[in-house]
Amino acid sequence: MVKICCIGAGYVGGPTMAVIALKCPEIQVAVVDISVPRISAWNSDTLPIYEPGLDEVVKKCRGKNLFFSSDVEKHVSEADIVFVSVNTPTKTQGLGAGKAADLTYWESAARMIADVSKSSKIVVEKSTVPVKTAEAIEKILTHNSKGINFQILSNPEFLAEGTAIQDLFEPDRVLIGGRETPEGQKAIKALRDVYAHWVPMDRIICTNLWSAELSKLAANAFLAQRISSVNAMSALCEATGADVSQVSHAVGKDTRIGPKFLNASVGFGGSCFQKDILNLVYICECNGLPEVANYWKQVIKVNDYQKTRFVNRIVSSMFNTVSGKKIAILGFAFKKDTGDTRETPAIDVCKGLLGDKAMLSIYDPQVSEEQIQRDLSMNKFDWDHPVHLQPTSPSSMKQVSVVWDAYAATKDAHGICILTEWDEFKTLDYQKIYDNMQKPAFVFDGRNIVDVAKLREIGFIVYSIGKPLDEWLKDMPAVA
Ligand code: UDX
Ligand code: ADP
Repeated sequence: MVKICCIGAGYVGGPTMAVIALKCPEIQVAVVDISVPRISAWNSDTLPIYEPGLDEVVKKCRGKNLFFSSDVEKHVSEADIVFVSVNTPTKTQGLGAGKAADLTYWESAARMIADVSKSSKIVVEKSTVPVKTAEAIEKILTHNSKGINFQILSNPEFLAEGTAIQDLFEPDRVLIGGRETPEGQKAIKALRDVYAHWVPMDRIICTNLWSAELSKLAANAFLAQRISSVNAMSALCEATGADVSQVSHAVGKDTRIGPKFLNASVGFGGSCFQKDILNLVYICECNGLPEVANYWKQVIKVNDYQKTRFVNRIVSSMFNTVSGKKIAILGFAFKKDTGDTRETPAIDVCKGLLGDKAMLSIYDPQVSEEQIQRDLSMNKFDWDHPVHLQPTSPSSMKQVSVVWDAYAATKDAHGICILTEWDEFKTLDYQKIYDNMQKPAFVFDGRNIVDVAKLREIGFIVYSIGKPLDEWLKDMPAVA
């Protein structure tokens, strides 16, 4: 029986392994993590991450061929294939600070694999890592191998949160990179055989190690670039009276461009886009390609500009001050159908408003108060460390309250900011909300989900990203 072990029971490791277990009943899959609470949660009725469809998959396999354990060494030593899906934070100190990936956790996982292994293993990079990481890991393993054969593969994950299970069931492609030696090709085949249980062969792409590593960074950079492109257009739309939804619809009809991923927003978030682009920028700089580095850097700059522009719109329309005013924040997760807040634009928007002394009342259907307080008090990049190494519980901020209902959040508020596109925000009783708010009552829609005409009819002053401006806002430019 083939045994698989995955180090890191996070957003990538957990769902990916659950689907492998479901699709390959004859393979035994163990997911291990140094975080004991995280493993306990995976073994409980309340999984540590919210992902539509995940509960069912885990329930079907857990205890049969899917196991969650904190006995990392035991499961690694028994496995034929070891996936590594640990944190790869952006460095905050030393060489490459603010850009390069910190491979501390990866290196310690690799050293542990070498220590406990008694039989040959295929080691699979699952976390997004800089190009050439596989080579570094290979060196650690072979220098500590005691004669054991390790083959390194890169098998980047392309799942998006909120649709992870669907993405894993029907991936656009599975990418496997390995050495071009006979042993490397054999390892590629072994991993390909696992995916071939449910993925058509023509969707399994096999490449060399470096192409696989770079493809992941490139794919995320291209996706983020599309959003920054449409967000850049949204600013121009507001200035000219064009409507960004109409523009992206027209542009997306060109089959060479395509309609997906062209929604203007308050900015992209998530654990991957910014981190991967910073990584790409660093690699370009290290390879003497400053022009290429600057090109990609601009994608992040436009994303930051979009968030700042949104805050400026809010402050300038509310008579240039939000000091002491209650502002409702609807949605804190970085996108709908996830409770994940990593790099969510809500953090920067809330921090911007808090900087102007606003009183925030925050509601998100999936994010806990503790998480929100932690996010608002954490330093940049601190989030991307194992939980037990993150800063301890923050003292909760007086200016921030977290409530469990959109109506409570908006009661007596001066303005509403919609920062996540949760479906429930589309069907709220906005008349009731308006009646309970201070006047003039503002809605700032960072996700373009509300019916602007209807809200204006009720009496709201509405700002929607990239849409023709409300008369109220026309004389109040959002430029700092
Ligand atoms: C992304 C990639 O899609 C995935 O392939 C990779 O494995 C990990 O990174 P994820 O971060 O989970 O996945 O979510 P994604 O759906 O890509 O959204 C990222 C951010 O972009 C979100 O904040 C989302 O709201 C925003 N977005 C997305 C837009 O603002 N507009 C769009 O049109 C699409
Ligand atoms: P991703 O989104 O890439 O899955 P997460 O941060 O959700 O990232 O998950 C990474 C997991 O890896 C965390 O649960 C963390 O505790 C775990 N981890 C980090 N280092 C190690 C290690 N050396 N051994 C086992 N687990 C580790």
